[in-house]
Amino acid sequence: MKLSFKIIFILMLCLTFMGCGVDRPPEDGEANDLIVVGFSQIGAESNWRVANTESIQAALSEENGFMLILDNARQQQENQLKAVRTFIQQGVDYIVLAPIVESGWESVLEEAKREGIPVIIVDRRVNVGNQGLYTTWVGANFRQEAETAVSWLEEELLSSGREDETVNILHVQGTLGGTAQIERSAGLEAAVERHSNWVIAAQLVGEYTQAKGYEVVLEYLKQNQDIDVLYCENDDMAFGAMEAMDELNIAYGAEGGVIVISFDAARTALEACMEGKINLCVECNPLHGPKVAELIWQMESGVLPPKEIFVEEGSFTTEMLTEEIIAGRAY
Ligand code: AHR
Repeated sequence: MKLSFKIIFILMLCLTFMGCGVDRPPEDGEANDLIVVGFSQIGAESNWRVANTESIQAALSEENGFMLILDNARQQQENQLKAVRTFIQQGVDYIVLAPIVESGWESVLEEAKREGIPVIIVDRRVNVGNQGLYTTWVGANFRQEAETAVSWLEEELLSSGREDETVNILHVQGTLGGTAQIERSAGLEAAVERHSNWVIAAQLVGEYTQAKGYEVVLEYLKQNQDIDVLYCENDDMAFGAMEAMDELNIAYGAEGGVIVISFDAARTALEACMEGKINLCVECNPLHGPKVAELIWQMESGVLPPKEIFVEEGSFTTEMLTEEIIAGRAY
């Protein structure tokens, strides 16, 4: 009797301290030590970002076996660096980092590595010489999103017989230096290189917010309204730009006028697309939480995850959307 008690005790210790064989959340009645995860989030600049935070909070919940420490960096890399250092001092089990820009992470990731804390990068990427400084990355294929947008535009111009006309594109960019901006901008710029009649009329920085998108687009359009396409690197900035066009009585959307292309495809943008205000919504899937939880359970059981994991995404046009499709969307 005494012996079996001892064995059970040793087994429990093993599960608790070594995580051996644990590749799933604990079930009722099992030893239930929470896995502590520090999550440094960029901020709450967009609907997408809010959906991303909620997805991670829901997946890394206590009932799923996690204790999540969430830090909102309010758009400052400096705050993210502080948050990650605090997580290291606290001795968290894992760090999840959504980096605002690609550069400047080397030292802090080295510190995490020295302490043996695995780092999962989500959404945008980090640009580091040593890829061993983080364990894995989960996010969207931003370059593919841009390719989807420009291919659709090529088709749209072709089908309306405008393929040889000059096409003036107003390009509204997200926070400079972050992967979403770098890749979505690169995709458009490469297409402009390929099409001698496509012109980037201006590149304005809208920092992914509706307010800034409105401000920069209004300012620009007050001086120059000769644009054919608005390429907005997220929905929130597209809403700001549409507000500016409404104010200046500029027609846009599927019925004619400026062609509006937006990235993210959050519910409000899909509604605007179904109404014909946005011509094309390219999806950027913010639901990273379940994947991050799965990866952590894998690591707990000693499995090294793949270095990069892409989430699934698609695109939507006015003709494609119905109320049922929108009602079935998770964000
Ligand atoms: O990095 C992803 C981008 O960041 C989303 O497209 C944008 O809405 C967000 O804030």
